[in-house]
Amino acid sequence: MEEDKFNVTPWEVTGKIDYEKLIQQFGTQKISKEILDELLEISKGKLHVMLRRNIFFSHRDLNLVLDDYKQGRGFFLYTGRAPSLGMHIGHLIPFLFTKWLQDVFGVNVYIEITDDEKFMRNPDYTLKQTEEWSYENILDIIAVGFDPNKTFIFKDTEYIKNIYPLVTSIARKLNFSQVKATFGFDSSSNIGILFYPAIQIVPTMFERRRCLIPAAIDQDPYWRLQRDIAESLGYFKAAEIHSKFLPPLASSDGKMSSSIPESAVYLSDPPKTVEKKIMKYAFSGGQATTELQRKLGADLKVDVPYQWLYYIFENDDDAMDKITKEYSAGKMLTGEVKAILANKVNQFLEEHREKREKGADSYSKFLYDGELAKKMWDKIHS
Ligand code: TYM
Repeated sequence: MEEDKFNVTPWEVTGKIDYEKLIQQFGTQKISKEILDELLEISKGKLHVMLRRNIFFSHRDLNLVLDDYKQGRGFFLYTGRAPSLGMHIGHLIPFLFTKWLQDVFGVNVYIEITDDEKFMRNPDYTLKQTEEWSYENILDIIAVGFDPNKTFIFKDTEYIKNIYPLVTSIARKLNFSQVKATFGFDSSSNIGILFYPAIQIVPTMFERRRCLIPAAIDQDPYWRLQRDIAESLGYFKAAEIHSKFLPPLASSDGKMSSSIPESAVYLSDPPKTVEKKIMKYAFSGGQATTELQRKLGADLKVDVPYQWLYYIFENDDDAMDKITKEYSAGKMLTGEVKAILANKVNQFLEEHREKREKGADSYSKFLYDGELAKKMWDKIHS
């Protein structure tokens, strides 16, 4: 039988992803039992559900980050978002997890909004659009609950003047064949996007400490470049903690992506839409008839509603175990699991939207006048 093919790049994720193979291909490390034990201890027994379930599954230098923390050298967190019309649930995964890390370690978080990347990669978008989306997406990010005095959210087109000197030092270290090989650029790629990797790398050098980046593993190519050049500029190689991809509704392959709207649930979807999408499109690993389902049970590996519960929506391990056992044994039917999921998603979104509304007041704190933001605007990175 031909092996399943998959492809993971910052701009495309397709196929049935074999995460074990990806670790080998990318040269990253599995998150070991020792690391989990350390995190369990530091978090006083409250390991994040995405660590307990191996959703964050791979890393680079996370052990060194923990050493730095224990020995008082500290570290900082960095993550980001390329703004688009609407954020979907998958986009929240790294932010939810980053917030947990900030709570546990009490460290600074830098969040890059790459309006430049979005604009340069898409000939159809205007800068005005990316500006509006940035604002809307930032409200969704703020709703996650970051500390406004220890978090700096910045838009590239706005903060560029403070980072440009350091960007030039990074850009001079990266040659065309490196970025071409890493991202698959060709001679039709616009020169802005060839230069862009230097801009995504720069926040890894915002402090003279180790930077830890929580993100899905699609962003890893940037960090490989960063790790090639960081020490020659007097900074640390970036450390990362990588997540798997929340699958799209209609198939367990690839990642949830805004390019197939019916296959994503957006943070702004009203309850009826959520219900309809899940009931109609969510790919089921259940059997074709009730009778067969009762006899054979569901294939959980391909069942999207099950996976969504596992990734993000059912945090209670006992409740999850029960669904796992009963659904795979045919005691539960697809319709029941879908209904549980639709309920959970709607509850989650309702709470999210409340927090979003409340958080809107702190927009300027995160971007301009919170403690960390103020410091960052006073600083020219060179
Ligand atoms: P973007 O906007 O494509 O994605 C934002 C973050 O969401 C993750 N992600 C997902 N995670 C789980 N399941 C999914 N289905 C899913 N889809 C997307 C991405 O890995 C990312 O962490 N170039 C970046 C913006 C950026 C950035 C960064 C991201 C700038 N600096 C530093 C991470 C860390 C981008 O286009 O992200």
